[in-house]
Amino acid sequence: MLDEHRIAAAAGLANGVIRVEAAVDSTNSRLARCREAGEPVRILLAEHQSAGRGRHGRRWLSPPGRGLYLSMAWSFQQPPRELGALSLTAGLAAAEAIERQVAVRVGLKWPNDLQIDGRKLGGCLVDLATGRNGATNAIIGIGINVDFRGLDGPDQPWTDLAAHAGRIDRNRLAADLIQGLDRELDRFNQAGFAAVAERWRGRDVLFGRDLVLIKPGQANLDGRGAGVDAHGGLVVETDQGRRIVRSGEVSQRIRTHGT
Ligand code: BTN
Repeated sequence: MLDEHRIAAAAGLANGVIRVEAAVDSTNSRLARCREAGEPVRILLAEHQSAGRGRHGRRWLSPPGRGLYLSMAWSFQQPPRELGALSLTAGLAAAEAIERQVAVRVGLKWPNDLQIDGRKLGGCLVDLATGRNGATNAIIGIGINVDFRGLDGPDQPWTDLAAHAGRIDRNRLAADLIQGLDRELDRFNQAGFAAVAERWRGRDVLFGRDLVLIKPGQANLDGRGAGVDAHGGLVVETDQGRRIVRSGEVSQRIRTHGT
């Protein structure tokens, strides 16, 4: 079970900053409500989410005790439009924390999917709101499939840590993830995405791959992944030249024989 005292001690956090709840709707939503109510909690984890949220309005499968569902509050001076790379930075911190705890290689699929061997292991969801003082209040949510054995997973190619490792200590993983997130977000705050871009590129699973960019209401864009720019935009080589993509969803084109 997740234990807030163990996690706080391992991550060097003061009392009251971190909270573990048995069940919430969504850790992102719950933490936002706590912050609005002026509570000191900055990091919130739950054993279960009844309405876990994924990107693009999807639901995030959150079976009780089988995953890591964590949200962290941060405040930035930049306006929301300059914080697009925040979720890439969070994904990088999560991939690195997982690798420190479990012997797996975690790739990143733009903008912030965590993958092992092309299957989704986790993801990040960042909610941004402008605060009263003009700062941007961010809630950074990370979901990781830890042990889904015997369960029906999401309806896309997915994996969990248990498929690649023995017993996983979720408390240690959570503590390491919290420390890694704080470190990388601090770096991002000081120097922007450029400070971590090279490490992100080292995990880019779309690099050199044929892909299709899907944007609602627009024609799909075919191209080949060519990395990310200093602001976290996806660089795509197309027949019409290089394009920088700042939003949308990318799917990898699977080439069938002879195409
Ligand atoms: C994605 O679609 O890949 C993003 C998934 C993010 C899920 C996490 S779980 C903790 C936090 N609370 C939520 O409701 N969502 C995020």
